[in-house]
Formats: sequence, structure tokens, C-alpha cells
Amino acid sequence: MAKLVGFAGSLRNGSFNRSLIAAAAAVMPQGSTLEVLSIDDFPVYNADIEANSGIPPAVVLVKNKIAAADGLVIATPEYNGGIPGIAKNAIDWISRPPEDVKRVLGGKPVALMGATPGGMGTAFSQLAWEHVLRTLRARLWTGGGPFYVSGASKNFDAEGRPNDELKAKLTNYMAAFVASLG
Ligand code: FNR
Repeated sequence: MAKLVGFAGSLRNGSFNRSLIAAAAAVMPQGSTLEVLSIDDFPVYNADIEANSGIPPAVVLVKNKIAAADGLVIATPEYNGGIPGIAKNAIDWISRPPEDVKRVLGGKPVALMGATPGGMGTAFSQLAWEHVLRTLRARLWTGGGPFYVSGASKNFDAEGRPNDELKAKLTNYMAAFVASLG
């Protein structure tokens, strides 16, 4: 029984990564849940905002949900061989203020996944995430192997539903992540 939270690092309606994390939430093992959190209302990080008005409410909500969860799932796109700005902006806000990082992310099990219409499955973006997560002292779960979705348009239908193969792969991945949490 695990209570997971997650987010997709894309804002667009038809996002493959939004579809991917929604599909992951739909195949969670019995008794466990994955709540998909919204980063849509995070402002672009600016230290002046933080200094003048504190951490935005949308960020506080996400931070507290992560802190209370047994694990975090991130569905990340890849832009130019790295983490898209919107996704990096989200984790940068989540990491503020620094004295709160331990509570929110310290030792937090994190499962990465990513989808792209391209052929490399977001491998470079996920590699970059590893470094970010290590910096934040989160605990990257590697027990499921890398979860790459290449040729994403072939894996989802027009409504963003995964095909049977991807659904099966997601089911196994989520079950293994939950099992790793003990
Ligand atoms: C991309 N895309 C892309 N894909 C990839 O696999 N490797 C890459 O380096 C890039 N680079 C890149 C840069 C920029 C600026 C854009 C806008 C796009 C394509 C990307 O994977 C595609 O737009 C996905 O659909 C984005 O994810 P969502 O929004 O569908 O979740």
C-alpha cells in the first residue's frame, strides 16, 4: 500500500507525458494510489517573487503533497537533449527554500519516466534528472530499469490512452516501484 504523487513536466493539453502519468495512475496496484499534481500555476522562478511574496500557493501545495507521499513519479519530456524549462522550473520552485528540501525530497524515492515522439525515449533528459535528484538528495529508484517511451504517437490513441503494450509495461513498472517501498 503506497501513496504516490507525481507530475508531468509539460503544460500542453495533448502532452504525451501528461498522458503517460495519467496512464500510470490508472494502473496502480490494488490499494495504492498515484495522485497527479499540477504544476500549471507555477510562475517562472524569480527570486524577487520569493523574496517579496514567499513561495506561491500552488508550489506550497505540491511541496506538501510530495512531503507526505511515499514516493514521487516524474514523467518528463526532453527538449534539446535536456530537461524542459517548465519541468526544471517546477523542481527549482519545489527546492525552495533550501532549508525545506530535506523535508520535501530528502531520501524520497523517485521513479522517472518519459515519452517522446523521437527515438531516444527521453534518455538524455532522464540522465539530467538523475543529477538534479542527486543534488537534492532524493533517492532515484532504478529497480525498474529506464522507462523510455519512443515514437510516442504510436503508443497513445487520440484521447491519450496507452496501447496494451505500454499499459502492461506501466503496470509492471508501477507495481515494482510500489514493491520497492516495502
Ligand atoms: C523537442 N522535442 C525533443 N524530443 C526529443 O526526444 N529530444 C529532444 O532533444 C527534443 N528537443 C525538443 C526541443 C524543443 C524546444 C521542443 C519544443 C521539442 C520534441 C518533444 O519530445 C515533443 O514536443 C514532445 O511531445 C514533448 O512532450 P509532451 O509535451 O508531449 O509531454
